[in-house]
Amino acid sequence: MLLEKYRHMSLPQARYAEFVLDRDKCNGCGRCVKACPIQLLELYGKKSRPNQRYDHFRCITCQNCAASCPQNAITIKGDYRVDKGFWKNAHLFRGPKTMPNPLGRNGQSTYADQEPELTETEKVIYQRRSVRLYKKKKVPRDMIERVIEAGRFAPSAGNNQPWKFIAIDNRDVISALNEKCKASLYKVSALTLPKPWINKKTPGDKEAKLALWQEAVLPLLTKIKTGDTEPRARGGINAASSDPNYDIYFGAPAVILLLADKRGIGSVELDTGIAGQNMVLAAHSLGLGTCWVSLSKAIGFDKALKKKLGIEEPFKIISSLSIGYPQGQVDNPVAREQPRIHWVDSL
Ligand SMILES: Cc1cc2nc3c(=O)[nH]c(=O)nc-3n(C[C@H](O)[C@H](O)[C@H](O)COP(=O)(O)O)c2cc1C
Ligand code: SF4
Ligand code: SF4
Repeated sequence: MLLEKYRHMSLPQARYAEFVLDRDKCNGCGRCVKACPIQLLELYGKKSRPNQRYDHFRCITCQNCAASCPQNAITIKGDYRVDKGFWKNAHLFRGPKTMPNPLGRNGQSTYADQEPELTETEKVIYQRRSVRLYKKKKVPRDMIERVIEAGRFAPSAGNNQPWKFIAIDNRDVISALNEKCKASLYKVSALTLPKPWINKKTPGDKEAKLALWQEAVLPLLTKIKTGDTEPRARGGINAASSDPNYDIYFGAPAVILLLADKRGIGSVELDTGIAGQNMVLAAHSLGLGTCWVSLSKAIGFDKALKKKLGIEEPFKIISSLSIGYPQGQVDNPVAREQPRIHWVDSL
């Protein structure tokens, strides 16, 4: 039992979702290619297809490719499932993902049927998607400050408000930040993934293995930094850091770094996350698109960069948001895993 818990800790055998394209519908616009955070798609002969570098084996099932396709040409089939070992999750899910069903109706009732009965807040929650396709148009500073104001009024443990925001709306600065983050992320990939995957290669080597030293180091690293060594996280870090053209901020005209005072009450990450989500929802309601970009945490590895950005003790970087005007339709509800709800009636 104990052994099973620690088996396949370094790199599990996982089942990933599959990208299915209706070639007749695809017009080669390339939106899905730009919208995929893991760079799993490419244009080939004026049609989209799974990137031959990796196939679709690191798909996080975000369905952003499908949501941003104007032709409804994409379906994402299956889910990320691991059957055994440390990362085992297959037993934690019941059935396939489902669309929002806030009114708890059975049968033929779709989300579209229910939407007219929902509050404006509920609609914002269900329609918001991460936006990775931005117009170049600048976001006025007063709009960015309006979004941050929504963060300021978030709840926090003991009302300690540990957050601090660094706003950047200069594209040159954002590009330099992207390059510096990618340089740090590249080192993380070199530590955590098989060597043939670290540099951009077409086609990728699906069978590549970790080196012996990595097999020894990774379980320890996973114990300390579980979320950052999660296999899909490692795939995302690799996709971002191995491609010279990848922009972790997707060309957004503005970025807000979310920091927190490490000495705050309770969990400052949670407080800052709540503030960030207030900002995301407020931005959506103002017609702005956002994407959480935790790849920015790489800033924490670079002392000189932190200094230039004005990140000083006692603050640490928690995450960031890219923000801008969406280019075309991205928002739309998509199916999610079914909820895990366990009602307890007595103790
Ligand atoms: C804490 C957090 C960190 C994230 N970091 C990244 C990131 O670094 N890069 C990225 O492209 N998306 C990032 N995302 C966006 C998720 O991929 C996205 O929320 C998820 O796939 C669900 O899609 P949706 O937001 O469109 O509903 C992050 C989301 C959260 C909540
Ligand atoms: S977004 Fe849709 S239409 Fe455009 S390239 Fe991708 S699959 Fe084809
Ligand atoms: S579902 Fe998300 S990760 Fe998977 S191919 Fe589409 S955009 Fe990429």
